[in-house]
Amino acid sequence: MKKKLTRFDLQEMKDKGEKVVWMTAYDFITAQLAEESGMDMLLVGDSLGMAVYGYPGTVPVTMDQCIYHTEAVRRGAPNTFIIGDMPFGAYQTGVRQACRNAVRFHKEAAVDCIKLEGGVRVADVIRAISDGGMLVMGHIGLTPQSSGAQGGFRAQGRTAESARAIIEDARAVSEAGAFSVLVEGVPPEVTEAIMKEIPIPVYGIGAGLCDGQVMICSDILGLFQAFTPKFVKKYGNVAEEYRKVFSAYVDDVKQGRFPGREHTYKMIEGEAEKL
Ligand code: KIV
Repeated sequence: MKKKLTRFDLQEMKDKGEKVVWMTAYDFITAQLAEESGMDMLLVGDSLGMAVYGYPGTVPVTMDQCIYHTEAVRRGAPNTFIIGDMPFGAYQTGVRQACRNAVRFHKEAAVDCIKLEGGVRVADVIRAISDGGMLVMGHIGLTPQSSGAQGGFRAQGRTAESARAIIEDARAVSEAGAFSVLVEGVPPEVTEAIMKEIPIPVYGIGAGLCDGQVMICSDILGLFQAFTPKFVKKYGNVAEEYRKVFSAYVDDVKQGRFPGREHTYKMIEGEAEKL
């Protein structure tokens, strides 16, 4: 049986230069298959707003939606380190609200840690949750919940001034007690500078090589159709497989080819004659 990683394993992997691989999952079946495939961690990201609910961004996602999906993922991957993603509105109105929602994630969905977006501006929240005995992963750089303030879903840290602010965010997150940090959508030079600056694991999405990588499940499957960010590598074209399967099923039913006799139940011997 697979052994679930702990924060100490993750730190040791960093220290030994062993990469950590993770992706998002939002449902039971995907979580089961991911655990079987040797995924180190799973994130039930608020990207479920786009990947599952069809919202234009992550802002409308609620705490309840995150909890429901995380519960399902936990059932599918009981031996995987699971990260619950704090949605927009779950930690913006104060430390007490943030701690209450972090506790909900642990009690209702059995997460191993929570992730939240922001650096310097959320340091007090990270400290309070960590002081409450819960693990926090920071998320800096491109932060989709504040894409309005960042001028859309666009790379961050491309000027020295903006890069310095992100490095400052990384320092604040680490000093506040986060056990790791996710860096999104920044040039690799910025990620390298962050790795020199802080001792905790640095994971990336669209941030070049670091201690580990996360990808959005529907992106690597080739399932998400709306757009493909530059940093995505598609490992399959599952959307095409879906289309093939769905249209073959439609054709079969319309043409009376399905269900066949082999897909039906047999009556108990002698009972059909009594009809
Ligand atoms: O919600 C999410 O899927 C994320 C990704 C950027 C990893 O935070």
